[in-house]
Amino acid sequence: MSNIQEIKKRRTFAIISHPDAGKTTLTEKLLLFGGAIQTAGAVKSNKIKKTATSDFMEIEKQRGISVATSVMTFEYHDLLINILDTPGHKDFAEDTYRTLTAVDSVILVIDCVKGVEEQTERLMEVCRMRNTPVIVFVNKLDREGRNPFELLDELETKLGIRVRPLTWPINMGAEFKGVYSLYEQMLYFFKINKTKIERDVAKVGLDDENLESLVGERDALQLIEDVELVEGVYDAFSEDAYQKGQLAPVFFGSAINNFGIKELLDTFCQISPIPQPRPTDVREVEPTEPKFTGFVFKIHANLDPRHRDRIAFLRICSGKFERGKFYKHVRLGKEVRFSSPFTFMASDKSVLDEGFPGDVVGLYDTGSFKIGDTLTEGENLQFSGIPSFSPEIFKELINMDPMKSKQLEKGIQQLTDEGVAQLFTLDLGNRKVVGTVGELQFDVIQYRLEHEYGAKCRWVPMNISRACWLTADEKPAMDQFVRLKGNQIAYDKDRNPVFLAESEWMIRMNRENNPAIHFHFTSEFK
Ligand code: G4P
Repeated sequence: MSNIQEIKKRRTFAIISHPDAGKTTLTEKLLLFGGAIQTAGAVKSNKIKKTATSDFMEIEKQRGISVATSVMTFEYHDLLINILDTPGHKDFAEDTYRTLTAVDSVILVIDCVKGVEEQTERLMEVCRMRNTPVIVFVNKLDREGRNPFELLDELETKLGIRVRPLTWPINMGAEFKGVYSLYEQMLYFFKINKTKIERDVAKVGLDDENLESLVGERDALQLIEDVELVEGVYDAFSEDAYQKGQLAPVFFGSAINNFGIKELLDTFCQISPIPQPRPTDVREVEPTEPKFTGFVFKIHANLDPRHRDRIAFLRICSGKFERGKFYKHVRLGKEVRFSSPFTFMASDKSVLDEGFPGDVVGLYDTGSFKIGDTLTEGENLQFSGIPSFSPEIFKELINMDPMKSKQLEKGIQQLTDEGVAQLFTLDLGNRKVVGTVGELQFDVIQYRLEHEYGAKCRWVPMNISRACWLTADEKPAMDQFVRLKGNQIAYDKDRNPVFLAESEWMIRMNRENNPAIHFHFTSEFK
């Protein structure tokens, strides 16, 4: 098969949701449809159980599971589908943001009872920044949820994207009967079966005489009325607008009951984008280019302290990746090769001999990778678009054992390379400020520094609420600002200056008073 055929075959996407909306269940059902697993329950949830939030080792153990489910590959209708898993726990939101840089599209799961929840809004912001195409799946229709029109309005206002329903639910809760496909103008009528895929599908149009006998008079009338309203209110579905990330098609169903999943999957296969070009600091890389390129978007540490190796996840962007071949590690400027790269079919790890754009390769790493690192066949380019977002909690890292300062330094560097947290350094006294999105990471870092690097630390909370990356049109303006602000300026891992702000008010004031300085809320501002 030629490279182009391989590319056209691939669909790489992530399922995102607020915890508990049904991401794991939907993933599992998709794998069932794809024949990648035979029974429900085979996919281990990487969801961090609520009871364990105070026990971070337990959480890390649970996170360990997510290595196996980081990428799930299956074949369906001659397509090779890669689902990239994302952690649901809020404290690991940055992992999810980074994973979103490695996909070509997203399925967003919403709970029909709860509607759009906080974390969903954040995730969608990231998708919108990159114009990632999004399909929405409104889940749990077997529960008494909100009115579908109301949910669609909420999706549009809270997520800032136009929506277009492609299926429509027939009643909900205990009376949920199935969905009407507005796309095919067919009714899909379901029979409940939790573990096996057994659907009672009646392909019936709205004007069919059997409609009433299938769903009852009241639901039939309601459906006809709803569909009329939908067609009147919403523009026709445009594949082009979806592919540009401007319009999100919406599906309704119930993941646990296999309702509406096949319609979702079949439409996904028809409309979702093939592996897309990706920006670098030099030019855009097309997937069809003959030479291999790829970037690391996730690093997973091995929790066993006897094996400090890590797994780097690389997204292939162009050409063909081959096992055992030398590639250029652009940041380090050296040749590297991998004798046992691996891939995942369902949850089985297997050695990968060759991979194509859209694929994700697992690489064993002994510490030479950072998030965002690029591999090429010699060309000097670096994939961009892997932003760091401002952390929410900041603490100063204090060394508790002066004899181990080297270990501490190395440990914190490596842990932040993995993306566990962000490290900012204050010039004065080389003080280290660690920023995270959740309290949990501080416990994780402290524990890992001690057990993997033999270094002891403690944390001193800092009165900082936001980090802003700074640029200036002219260097003297920046130099002056940095001098003036003293200890409010720190440097990120790439020595970019960052303003550590106590409050939003502080940022506003500094912005107003320093028009020559530009404040950015993510590190990606080129
Ligand atoms: P997540 O990965 O997004 O966090 O969600 P997950 O799939 O784990 O689903 C969260 C809960 O919602 C689970 O129940 C799951 O069984 C349930 N669920 C998923 N889809 C549906 C649906 O279509 N209808 C209904 N009514 N429930 C659904 P749980 O009790 O938290 O976990 P479990 O013990 O059942 O695994």
